[in-house]
Amino acid sequence: MIEGKKVSLRPVEERDYPLIHAWMNHPEVWRSMDYELPFSLADVKEDTERSRKEGHPFVIEVKDRPIGRIGLNQFRRRDRICSLYMFVGEPAFWGQGYARDAVMALLNYAFDRLDLNQVELWTLADNDRALAMYAKCGFVEEARLRQRSFKQGRWVDHVVMSVNRDEFVRARADWDSSGIVTRDSERV
Ligand SMILES: CC(C)(COP(=O)(O)OP(=O)(O)OC[C@H]1O[C@@H](n2cnc3c(N)ncnc32)[C@H](O)[C@@H]1OP(=O)(O)O)[C@@H](O)C(=O)NCCC(=O)NCCS
Repeated sequence: MIEGKKVSLRPVEERDYPLIHAWMNHPEVWRSMDYELPFSLADVKEDTERSRKEGHPFVIEVKDRPIGRIGLNQFRRRDRICSLYMFVGEPAFWGQGYARDAVMALLNYAFDRLDLNQVELWTLADNDRALAMYAKCGFVEEARLRQRSFKQGRWVDHVVMSVNRDEFVRARADWDSSGIVTRDSERV
């Protein structure tokens, strides 16, 4: 279990599959994650089992209520780098700082516990909400890959972002001094 200020991250369990299935097929999540086809429950099981073999898959929880998925994969041990993916599957929970808290908690784990040097991610270039949230976690835009997805009748660019250890340390200091209320004191 990884504790953030507002959320907890716990390993994905089999009982989570139906909820993850609903989240992944939610139209707003589905579009922003750049998935190509709808997912079946069997796809979710296969995807989660692969995530377990390849990395660290977690469910994001707010006061024991699961609200999304986050994880690390694509580890390159020599280079001490991996990729991060995430979504908050319940749009009612968007815009309340849960995503940022989950990403900060997982980066803390990646840099302090796994001793990584860099964490990277890809996102759709029109995902303003995700880009702003990742920037607040210390991620820096590294590259823009042109016309990498054909979505809803138009081409969309992808943005590659990464955060190095020292950048994360600065983002964490900002985060710690921002006076974000903790799980014990907030109203959800
Ligand atoms: C992207 C996503 C993870 C953001 O989750 P969230 O819970 O809304 O994010 P947070 O509340 O932590 O927002 C953090 C910051 O994002 C920015 N933000 C929030 N809403 C925004 C909006 N509508 N437009 C632009 N920026 C926004 C703000 O800067 C906010 O920080 P602040 O509230 O301190 O000012 C969530 O919307 C989601 O899961 N979307 C679908 C899947 C997805 O896009 N995943 C990421 C793919 S790479």
